[in-house]
Amino acid sequence: MEQTVAIDIKGLKSQFGGKVIHDNLDLTIYQGEIIALVGGSGCGKTTLLQQLLGLHKPTRGEINILGMDILKPGADLRSLQHRWGVLFQQGALFSSLTVLENVTFVLRELTSLPKDIIEEIAYMKINMAQFPVDSVHKYPSELSGGMLKRAALARAIVMDPEVLFLDEPTSGLDPVSAASLDSLVLNLQKSLGLTIVLVTHDPDTLWTAVDRVAFLGDKRVLAVKPMAELIKDPNPAIQEYFSSERTQRKEDHGN
Ligand SMILES: Nc1ncnc2c1ncn2[C@@H]1O[C@H](COP(=O)(O)OP(=O)(O)O)[C@@H](O)[C@H]1O
Ligand SMILES: [Mg+2]
Repeated sequence: MEQTVAIDIKGLKSQFGGKVIHDNLDLTIYQGEIIALVGGSGCGKTTLLQQLLGLHKPTRGEINILGMDILKPGADLRSLQHRWGVLFQQGALFSSLTVLENVTFVLRELTSLPKDIIEEIAYMKINMAQFPVDSVHKYPSELSGGMLKRAALARAIVMDPEVLFLDEPTSGLDPVSAASLDSLVLNLQKSLGLTIVLVTHDPDTLWTAVDRVAFLGDKRVLAVKPMAELIKDPNPAIQEYFSSERTQRKEDHGN
């Protein structure tokens, strides 16, 4: 089956000062897939997402997103910013704005749509993100972790993005909230045809929500495969990572 490339990363080298984070990293992500980035803490997962968003410049390499070579001098990143949504670990919502104000923010900034249409779109996304509508006038500080993520997700999809970037979306959530966020992300992918790139440690997410897993180690992508194949990869770094308890599939332990 012919697959369309959404994101193509070639020969990426990244460093902070003299410290090399990525070296000769390659990764191809296809349109409509859910791909997870995994690897030990500090291996450069968040940095890679930031580079895809143009927030951190690699030392060398190519990054093509939705047909645009974003590292080329003069690349118009702003034209891409409508085409992706982002849910990062921290700082997802403006604390001084209500949920509704947070979700409408980008529409108010970037479009000249009338207020009632903006609110209509916002409510649609709030519903899609399964955020309780009776809480839209609350401030972020009044929300639980799971509700915060849903509000941030509503904001991330408000511009109908083609690609969604999520950095550890289920971290800090209890297992039930985490599972429901996973199924929500999966539904969004299906209903909106999104390409989703997420960083996660969550074994349930890796086993149930993701099409392929890209394993970062040794400063590059060591393997990209569905989880069931990845855990059979003989690479010692991969074996070591998945041998730890937290990454085991729950069903394998019985009860
Ligand atoms: N702004 C920064 N300045 C200096 N070093 C950084 C910066 N951001 C990240 N790093 C370093 O880069 C490495 C990769 O970080 P990060 O991408 O956050 O890893 P991960 O998300 O995989 O845990 C870490 O060693 C981290 O200390
Ligand atoms: Mg990180």
